Amino acid sequence: MTFERIDLEVPAGEDLRAAALVGLARTPRALPCRFFYDEVGSRLFEAICATEAYYPTRCEREILTARAAELAERFAGHALIELGSGSAEKTALLIAAWVGPVHYLPIDIDGSALERSAERLLDGGTHLRITGIAGEYATGLARAVEVVAGPKLVLFLGGNVGNFSREGAADFLAGVAEHLNDDDGLLLGVDLRKERSLLERAYADPAGVTAAFNRNLLVRLAAEADVRVEPQSFDHVAEYGEADGVVRMYLCANRRTSIRIGEQSFRFEAGERIHTEDSTKYGRGELGALAAGAGLRLVEHWTDPAGLYSLNLLQR
Ligand code: AVJ
Repeated sequence: MTFERIDLEVPAGEDLRAAALVGLARTPRALPCRFFYDEVGSRLFEAICATEAYYPTRCEREILTARAAELAERFAGHALIELGSGSAEKTALLIAAWVGPVHYLPIDIDGSALERSAERLLDGGTHLRITGIAGEYATGLARAVEVVAGPKLVLFLGGNVGNFSREGAADFLAGVAEHLNDDDGLLLGVDLRKERSLLERAYADPAGVTAAFNRNLLVRLAAEADVRVEPQSFDHVAEYGEADGVVRMYLCANRRTSIRIGEQSFRFEAGERIHTEDSTKYGRGELGALAAGAGLRLVEHWTDPAGLYSLNLLQR
């Protein structure tokens, strides 16, 4: 049982400020979703996952529980590399099923999430070695494959791939595929297209946890980037675009207000919005195309009984 941590260059306050200057000057106004995840944001996301409205976590846990033994057998002796590991609460199910010693390499933008998840995992596992990598996906994965000599299963769970556009997802996964050998696998959690009411409820939970998560972007701007902003002047909005299968989140000014960064002032009339996140949903038929777009084969496609969410195994 060991834990080591590698810190890659992670965007800090200056980059958040720079991103805000660029994003708020653009039309439409936008802030990048990777800045959601400071320590408070990671905890708020975990709280979203615990709500009844946010079904993806529950569905993925259900599928992983059903398939853990089968995956452990198929990928015995493989290291586990996870992109965007967060709390790693669902990965714990896989680790528990793994046969023999496990080398687990979680990659997350939030180093504090790595520390907390490692603490919990090491509590349970005996033959567990954890190499936590604080950084972004691409650089984190490149470092992880340097550390791992043998075969590996790459995990990209939780529907994280939904933050990319369809084209961006294929490109990103093609980059992951370059690191894979024939025996390796990519376990990909993908949220599926479904009726609007379920989706909009999942992204605007009645208790307002998602609203707090979204507004935390503004709280961070004020706290870390020396930006003058009133987070309470913005409401959380989530809308599903049925035609392109994307849930979009916004912060919408509920009165006239402004965001000041240094000499720059960005004015908002009531009803003016900042786009903060896309969550792309896939039809069952689109999964094969996604895999093919990355130069991979769709080897398995599993869903929960209600067919809300999918776990997919991709290989060369
Ligand atoms: C972490 C990107 C998978 O898109 O469902 C949840 C983020 N945003 N509720 C998602 C999120 C609002 C989540 N991912």
